[in-house]
Amino acid sequence: MYNEIQKLKKEKDAIILAHFYQSAQVKEAADYVGDSFELAKKAKSSSSGTIVFCGVKFMAESAKLLNPQKTVLLAESTAGCPMADMLKAEDIIRLRAKYPKAAVVLYINSSVEAKAQSDVCCTSSNAAKIIKKLPNKQIIFLPDKNLGSYIARFTDKEIILFDGYCHVHDKITIDDLIKAKQAYPKALVAVHPECRAEIVDAADFCGSTSQIISYAALSNAKEFIIGTEQGVIDVLEKNHSDKKFYPLSDNFICPNMKKTLLEDVRNCLKYNLNSIEIEPSVFDNAAKSLELMMELAK
Ligand code: 13P
Ligand code: SF4
Repeated sequence: MYNEIQKLKKEKDAIILAHFYQSAQVKEAADYVGDSFELAKKAKSSSSGTIVFCGVKFMAESAKLLNPQKTVLLAESTAGCPMADMLKAEDIIRLRAKYPKAAVVLYINSSVEAKAQSDVCCTSSNAAKIIKKLPNKQIIFLPDKNLGSYIARFTDKEIILFDGYCHVHDKITIDDLIKAKQAYPKALVAVHPECRAEIVDAADFCGSTSQIISYAALSNAKEFIIGTEQGVIDVLEKNHSDKKFYPLSDNFICPNMKKTLLEDVRNCLKYNLNSIEIEPSVFDNAAKSLELMMELAK
């Protein structure tokens, strides 16, 4: 299967991008594995005519918005992000009317329609930086209330939150953390900001998937409890055979991220399946918000 994918990639002038949460098998087939921001940057800088995205829909849509001239294929067409589906464009319009002076900062985990209503997108790795660079004193941050309240720790600006969340991260409780710490008392705890505030408070480190991976790489510690989707642990174990990594919960799995199989990667390349097409009426505004993120995150 890997050989066939390699051959198809050459024939189709394609690059395969995969998020850290993908299965180990799929990550093995990828040319580049990264967090949401790194994947968006890679999609933009790649010279290949086709991008095969192994992740969820909003990631492939972002790649398309940043590369209108390229073909973007989502390896598994039904892989979505339930948090992105929690926010409708109308919610942003309503909040804007209520807070007319506020800038709308939108987590990239959102629909194209929501992006078209926003001022600037962000990911968990650049949200604080972007908010700092905006002139507005009031920020409407959505959809993730957990990431929004984490970011609020780094600014004096007023952050207006929306009631969205990631069901995979938000379900992790302080009891899960206490149990993991009891089982592995020497381990440092690194968590994603999509976790609840009490989990972040009790952790040694909080950051994006990529930042968690760098933290574990640079630390002298030998054991880590990882508070994000278990795909990050495959990467850490591959990179550091001298260190031990434990999931914060046995149930820390994003079902949507795990939908993509190696066969899907092969099939989408072979038959040009699941090409991302974006409604022209929202394309330009959504692309503008993402382009501004790329600019402000520099
Ligand atoms: P990262 O930007 O940290 O990769 O996170 C993406 C995501 O979907 C987290 O659930
Ligand atoms: Fe969406 Fe959560 Fe899955 Fe990330 S882990 S893709 S935020 S459901």
